[in-house]
Amino acid sequence: MTEDNSNRRLTRRNALRIAGAAGAASLAGCGGSDGGDGSSGDGSDGSGGDGTDGSSGDGSDGSTDSGTQYNTLEVAHWWGEGDGLEAIQSVMDAFKEQHPDIPFDENLIAGGAGENLQANIRTRVQNGNHPSTWQAWPGNNLLPFTDANLLKDIGDSVWSENSMEDAYLQGVKDAAQPAGNYVTVPLNIHRINNLFYNVEVVEDAGVDPTSLETPSDVVDALQTVDEAGYTGMAHQTGSPWSSFQMFATVLLGETDAETYSAIFVDGEVEANSDALESAVETTQSYLDYIPSDAGSISWTEANNQVINGEAAFLHQGDWAAGTYLTNDLTYGEEWDHVAFPGTEGYYALNMDSFPYPVNNPSPEATTLWCQFAGTTEAQEIFNPKKGSIPPRTDVNTEPFNDFSQDQISDFQDSEAQPPSVAHGLAAPPSVLSSLESAISSLNSGNEPSNVVSQMASAYQ
Ligand code: GAL
Repeated sequence: MTEDNSNRRLTRRNALRIAGAAGAASLAGCGGSDGGDGSSGDGSDGSGGDGTDGSSGDGSDGSTDSGTQYNTLEVAHWWGEGDGLEAIQSVMDAFKEQHPDIPFDENLIAGGAGENLQANIRTRVQNGNHPSTWQAWPGNNLLPFTDANLLKDIGDSVWSENSMEDAYLQGVKDAAQPAGNYVTVPLNIHRINNLFYNVEVVEDAGVDPTSLETPSDVVDALQTVDEAGYTGMAHQTGSPWSSFQMFATVLLGETDAETYSAIFVDGEVEANSDALESAVETTQSYLDYIPSDAGSISWTEANNQVINGEAAFLHQGDWAAGTYLTNDLTYGEEWDHVAFPGTEGYYALNMDSFPYPVNNPSPEATTLWCQFAGTTEAQEIFNPKKGSIPPRTDVNTEPFNDFSQDQISDFQDSEAQPPSVAHGLAAPPSVLSSLESAISSLNSGNEPSNVVSQMASAYQ
């Protein structure tokens, strides 16, 4: 049989809703279904069900060949900048090996830590020709899609397979159900509160990163490194996300997980304006020590300065570790890492996942991909290369590298796992783009009190 997608175009009304989600603005209030298109159950989009002719249904047994002629599985992602390309391609290779009969189209749209892919998806959703699945942060980030009933409930077709429900960590399961039912499959867990460094550079400058206790201590370290002739903090400011996650980490380091959550999840900005102003000031102090061309380089170009010994420190998610590992740099000798000063005991997290859009161009193949992303096999392949840790608890981590093992034990020992605000896990989507504007003004040196006022209005 052939997968039939003739009736699987998005309804125009829902497509326009998603297009209206530009900048991740919330679609709340505009929800409601155009005929029950798939917010629950298998193939409830009124167009013939997900499993085409019903003989094998969605999520067949995963065997390579059952006479099914599959539609092309298009998987879009943004890992093109050395921050995961090898990791995702290894997963794709393993999938293709298991399913040689599925035509596979890898669609890489790099840039802006996802901004380019996210914009592309919005346009393609509007045009009714989106990919089979794409890299997406789970949690609140997907609310515009679930509010418009654009993601399918994959509780039965995917999450009931391969012991996923038993094996996944609870917080990750919650993030996979932004509207109360499973619509996506997280593949990895990244940590945001890291401070990476070039070992030789900090030793030469006489700085001991393990002695730094607070975010302000980092300012002193940057100054010392600067005086020794190095760039202090490798960083990009061309788009706001890097300073956004840095600012959120500084705030976490200067306060605690409860305050972080009160601010970003509950929107209690005004009540915490002193803490926020202080975090803006500290972050702005770091910006005195970033590369002079920070406004025009990518984060990977900035990170190259750590790799080649021109810069000392980098604040990034631990996808940065993936770049050191794929450059064959030795952990603990050439590069190293401490929990960002002040945040020890916390594992601030971000995740990547693959959602299942309801009007799917390749229903069966997409189900098989989503199932595969949820297996121990895929997670053992992906995470050590990516610098992330697996969201399943039953993955065999013995062959993982030392860095991954250290992160796994930090995760297990962590007292809280604050969700990343810069990646749409903490703040509601409707406020994210306004917070990003506030961070752009932080980057341009706006007064801390003005930046905080902008943040307060983001939540109003
Ligand atoms: C994040 C994503 C990571 C990594 C990073 C930099 O948003 O979750 O996996 O790719 O962007 O590109």
